[in-house]
Amino acid sequence: MTTATPTTATAPSGGVAARAWAGFRQRYDAEPAGRWAAPGRVNLIGEHTDYNEGFVLPFALPLRTVVAAAPRDDERWTVWSELADEPVEFGPAEADEPGRVTGWAAYVAGVVWALRAAGHRVPGARLAVASDVPVGSGLSSSAAVEAAVLAALVELGGLDLPADRWPRLAQRAENDYVGAPTGIMDQSAVIRGRPGHTLFLDCRTEDVEPIPFDLAAAGLAMLVVDSRAPHRHADGEYAARRASCERAARTLGVPALRDVTVADLDAALARLPDEETRRRVRHVVTEDQRVLDTVALLRAGRVRDIGPLLTASHASMRDDFEITVPEVDTAVEAALAAGAYGARMTGGGFGGCVLALVDADRAPAVADAVTAAYAERGFAAPGTLTALPVGGATRLD
Ligand code: GLA
Repeated sequence: MTTATPTTATAPSGGVAARAWAGFRQRYDAEPAGRWAAPGRVNLIGEHTDYNEGFVLPFALPLRTVVAAAPRDDERWTVWSELADEPVEFGPAEADEPGRVTGWAAYVAGVVWALRAAGHRVPGARLAVASDVPVGSGLSSSAAVEAAVLAALVELGGLDLPADRWPRLAQRAENDYVGAPTGIMDQSAVIRGRPGHTLFLDCRTEDVEPIPFDLAAAGLAMLVVDSRAPHRHADGEYAARRASCERAARTLGVPALRDVTVADLDAALARLPDEETRRRVRHVVTEDQRVLDTVALLRAGRVRDIGPLLTASHASMRDDFEITVPEVDTAVEAALAAGAYGARMTGGGFGGCVLALVDADRAPAVADAVTAAYAERGFAAPGTLTALPVGGATRLD
């Protein structure tokens, strides 16, 4: 991402696909059989609701990961990434034992593992990975790798696996092989994304409804600010939030917090043992409702009016779920002060990106205001871009 004046990312650039191709040829001295791409994502609203079997509203971003791949004769996998010098090679023994392959290649081994665990015969392959999705910015670079690799292996192996089953498999790769206890939002967004739409996903049923999200027609833009905040303790804190929600659901005698509605909330809170748990539950229950309210406004074509819901979501993440950090709070406050209709952190928290809904012609001024507020607080300059929703994982050629 660039700093200050936001770049407009509406269509994927050709550069990353060319890098994957060139990397493949250079590394393996052969031509790939094809290239497969998957995007990063942001979440418009609905944070930490996915693993509570609730609602989310993400969309895929025009920043992509591309995998160039070709089958090999034996049952082994070699993966090269432009982020690492040396390729990683593994066979069935490493793939079948979660944790054996570590680092960035674990996301690839995890996909092989998940496919094999589901009974698929995964073809051996050589893969080369290039990506424009920044790592560590909360834009789901890991889900993008999983989805692009999955798309490549399914096709190279001629596997009978419809795309609506891919998100669960990619999530299993991340949960059970890599060991990150995430929900299903990211994988769903990057696999099932639709151009010009946000995805209204029911994380219990996995039903997806694309909701038109035509920012340009409304004279609006979505500014994405990379807070550049270092991810402090993000993994442990994420797991702690999830555990707290699951404990609360058990105390309340419901399968998941999704089953508590805003109408039930006060009665539910009264049955919880401590103030911290009450805050966590209040966030999840009110956040599910904000997703539903946002969907209703978008269906009615009232895009600008979702702003207060975005800002309320941020306050809930800051005060009740306690997952924001000073950099993202500063970005939200500065964007709102500069005229954004609404702003919120997006993603798991403790850093990552902020979304601000702005008049299209105000995007540069809002980006400048955030940059100035950062400078005043002594934070490293944020990255900014404006983004429109694109489609999900796909074969390029
Ligand atoms: C991360 C996880 C998702 C989701 C979000 C929070 O992005 O990967 O599953 O839980 O955090 O909404």
